Amino acid sequence: MTKISINHLKPGMVLADNIGSLRSGAILVSKGTVLNKKIIKKIYNQGIKYVVVYDVDSDSKEVLENNFVIRYEILSDKLENVFKNIKLGKKIILTEISEELDDLIVEIIQNNNILGRMRQLEEKDDYTFNHSLNVAMLATMVGKWLNYSDKHIKQLALTGLFHDIGKLKIPNNIVNKLGELTESEFEIMKKHPIYSYNILSETVGISKNVLIGVLQHHEREDGSGYPQGISGDKIHEYAKVIAICDVYDALTSDRKYKNKSSPFYAAEILEGQSFGVLNPKITRVFLDKVASFYVGCKVLLSNDEEGEVIYIHPQSPTKTIVKTGDKYINFLEPQDVFIIDIIK
Ligand SMILES: [Fe+2]
Repeated sequence: MTKISINHLKPGMVLADNIGSLRSGAILVSKGTVLNKKIIKKIYNQGIKYVVVYDVDSDSKEVLENNFVIRYEILSDKLENVFKNIKLGKKIILTEISEELDDLIVEIIQNNNILGRMRQLEEKDDYTFNHSLNVAMLATMVGKWLNYSDKHIKQLALTGLFHDIGKLKIPNNIVNKLGELTESEFEIMKKHPIYSYNILSETVGISKNVLIGVLQHHEREDGSGYPQGISGDKIHEYAKVIAICDVYDALTSDRKYKNKSSPFYAAEILEGQSFGVLNPKITRVFLDKVASFYVGCKVLLSNDEEGEVIYIHPQSPTKTIVKTGDKYINFLEPQDVFIIDIIK
């Protein structure tokens, strides 16, 4: 381990100790976090001068744990090129990302703390791009939880990677608009699944399941979705999985025009939509698995206190019990405070 000046921090270094707020003492960045530019900036803004990082040569376990981050970054770079080519009207060459996607899927399937790891990734300055990768990773996990074969997990991941590529054909002022779209703008936006389908259908080696999954990812169980307004069994299961991952990631990601929500708030929204809008069976699997991940996590509360999630109600995985000091807060009952975010 080495104590170094904040000025010498580099992306990829791993923190060997927690970093606490100088004001409240709450943990801001936890031990084991892989540093990226965003996190380094956050530490810098706190006025902290020195931090302790692992020595990469001697702490090889930490390096091994970074395999997921490395695989993610390799795929991310390759995919960026694929997205650029789509913008230029070129076809997708699946072999350019196929092996890299296989490698990332292996890391995701083997890693039990993938949601935690995902929170530490360095993202590019492009919402659609980051969102596509996040949805692909979440969908990979759901495929594992639903006991899909390797072949179907890869198809599901590809559906996640390409579900929104049709947005590359929609004017930037609509895709990146701050605030609500007008009715006519929304009509244009609603065409993106068809554009995604059209772009992908020219791709050599793409499965029909992926094409249908992409086309239907905004269809809803009750027929309230688009572009076709189909319902229930007429919607492909891949599209149902992507819809859940899509909503979850949209809520828990930073966007220019809104602050991200805590995973617990996102879970509440998903639970509400599982009555008629999203598939109830897959949403239940998703919420149960995500909830079990959050037991033991440290959270920051709206009163600036820090707590630990010690229990999640089995019948309602969005409701937790949080321990702060010697107090227990049961979120099954109305409370004055709420969870702002997970800090570890
Ligand atoms: Fe979409």
